[in-house]
Amino acid sequence: MIMTNTIAVTSTRKKCIIILMVVLVPCAILNLVSTPDMSEETILQNGIAELQVKLEHLQSKYINIQEEINILSHQLLSLTENSHNIPDLQFLMPNTTTNITSIKLPSIYNFLPHILNDHNSLRPAFLQSKSRCGVSMVLGVPTVKRDVQNYLMSTLKNLLDRMTPAEAADTIIIVMVAEIDIDYVTYIAKQIEVQFPVETDNGLIEVISPSSNYYPNLTKLRDTLGDDHQRVLWRSKQNLDFAFLMSYAQTKGTFYIQLEDDILAKKNFITTMKTYALQKISMKENWFVLDFCQLGFIGKLFKCVELPWLVQFFLMFYNDKPVDWLLDHLVSTKVCSLDKDSKHCKIAKAELWLHYKPSLFQHIGTHSSLKGKVQKLKDKQFGKITLYYAHNNPDASVETQITSYKQYTLRKAYKGESFFWGLLPQPGDYLKFKFVHPIFIKKYLFRSGNLEHPLDQFYNTTVEILLVNSKSIDRNRNDVTEDGYIIIGKFDSLGVAQGTVDKKYGKVAVIRLSVHGESDNWAILSEIHIVPDESS
Ligand SMILES: *[C@@H]1O[C@H](CO)[C@@H](O)[C@H](O)[C@H]1NC(C)=O
Ligand SMILES: *[C@@H]1O[C@H](CO)[C@@H](O)[C@H](O)[C@H]1NC(C)=O
Ligand SMILES: *[C@@H]1O[C@H](CO)[C@@H](O)[C@H](O)[C@H]1NC(C)=O
Ligand SMILES: *[C@@H]1O[C@H](CO)[C@@H](O)[C@H](O)[C@H]1NC(C)=O
Repeated sequence: MIMTNTIAVTSTRKKCIIILMVVLVPCAILNLVSTPDMSEETILQNGIAELQVKLEHLQSKYINIQEEINILSHQLLSLTENSHNIPDLQFLMPNTTTNITSIKLPSIYNFLPHILNDHNSLRPAFLQSKSRCGVSMVLGVPTVKRDVQNYLMSTLKNLLDRMTPAEAADTIIIVMVAEIDIDYVTYIAKQIEVQFPVETDNGLIEVISPSSNYYPNLTKLRDTLGDDHQRVLWRSKQNLDFAFLMSYAQTKGTFYIQLEDDILAKKNFITTMKTYALQKISMKENWFVLDFCQLGFIGKLFKCVELPWLVQFFLMFYNDKPVDWLLDHLVSTKVCSLDKDSKHCKIAKAELWLHYKPSLFQHIGTHSSLKGKVQKLKDKQFGKITLYYAHNNPDASVETQITSYKQYTLRKAYKGESFFWGLLPQPGDYLKFKFVHPIFIKKYLFRSGNLEHPLDQFYNTTVEILLVNSKSIDRNRNDVTEDGYIIIGKFDSLGVAQGTVDKKYGKVAVIRLSVHGESDNWAILSEIHIVPDESS
């Protein structure tokens, strides 16, 4: 019987490994990163480093599965002990001839005991996923409801714009809506699906939200560090949110990068991060964090297999410290010595926490999600960003009732010398461009908002043209305004209005933007491009 047990166990384990390989191999296709200035040797070294981290990833999955087998075995064991009439199950058992009560290791239930009350507390309440896995880069983007401004869509658009197709194929963006209001979560997920249908469909963007039972009773939090209760609540929940997001992300890929919902990324940020990580691995550097942004927790990269360190730590101390302090403490705990001075500690930490310069991410938001806290921190390492695009537009006089802010006038924007920045557009406001010589228009493009102020867009604003022979227009058409302009387009949800003008209209004397709704924001025009039809 003992022999049978032993063999059964071993072969069960083997089976698991085989299943594991079958499950993982289709996902584990290597993506050799290369940039033109890398030698073949470096490419190969990075390839080996990548294999090494993928192997570590497999091993951690194996440990997870082993853990599940152990739990199952124990449950089966108690079942067979209680009912001796099902002896057939004996062969499934691990070696249980010894009858020693084992010690019980602590688990997250010691820190979040309420989770024991509900088996579903660890299951996402909402999940929009195509189960993409085995990628190199997993980007975690937590977001919460904000009273003032929400930059999530601009952030996602910017992240996607800054990826090549190859980078996008090797990445997952996990948006965690850390709210328990399921209507709100569904609304955000729908918005993402509508604005990014391709990326939702191919699994590049996933949306999750935690179950309400995941959070302990937050009204019972202790006030710590002398912070007011609201702040304690905010930072404690953030720790729990990060732990949830990281736990979900852990099995999805090789590297995890913590981001925020109000950031900008630099071009090629994916390849830059991956190459840097693989180089450090191939150089046998023993890092724990790669830091691609100076601010808080933004742009911190970890190996997915090491995320359990963070998750456990956050869950143990979620009520005690803010999340970025906990990261710092974790690293200090690993390497600092009480016998040595703070200088030694700093040097030791710098070996585990490597900084990449210049920064790859920048904050755009001025409103932090903590009520009333205005977020002014900007990363000085990020460098200059393009705030407007210049074009050589046909000669025109410009006019608007909207007051411009400082030197950001409409005239300068039209000439491509700056962007236009106007104070609170009101219904009935116009921005008029009257051509010196009427022209056939082939294409037009107006882009509102810019990277620093993505929400300063034109909302509920149409594009209209006045024809040279406007008398021929039927004023009763519903696309013609009372003053005889034809409505040819409007600003979309990303703040862009673009299109062509039908030749049959003849020459255009004026093109104007016409505001129809109240706006809570100022408005920026960061690109104006009128392309005349030279062939006519
Ligand atoms: C199973 O337990 C017996 C008795 O303690 C021991 O001799 C044997 O080595 C164990 N086998 C395994 C695989 O642990
Ligand atoms: C294990 O120990 C308990 C308590 O000492 C005893 O009641 C039980 O019969 C033992 N089981 C086996 C399989 O030896
Ligand atoms: C949370 O704790 C407060 C204060 O102890 C209590 O009044 C409230 O009923 C609790 N909420 C839940 C959902 O248990
Ligand atoms: C746009 O403006 C019109 C006219 O004031 C108003 O009826 C409509 O609700 C507005 N739409 C939005 C999305 O603000």
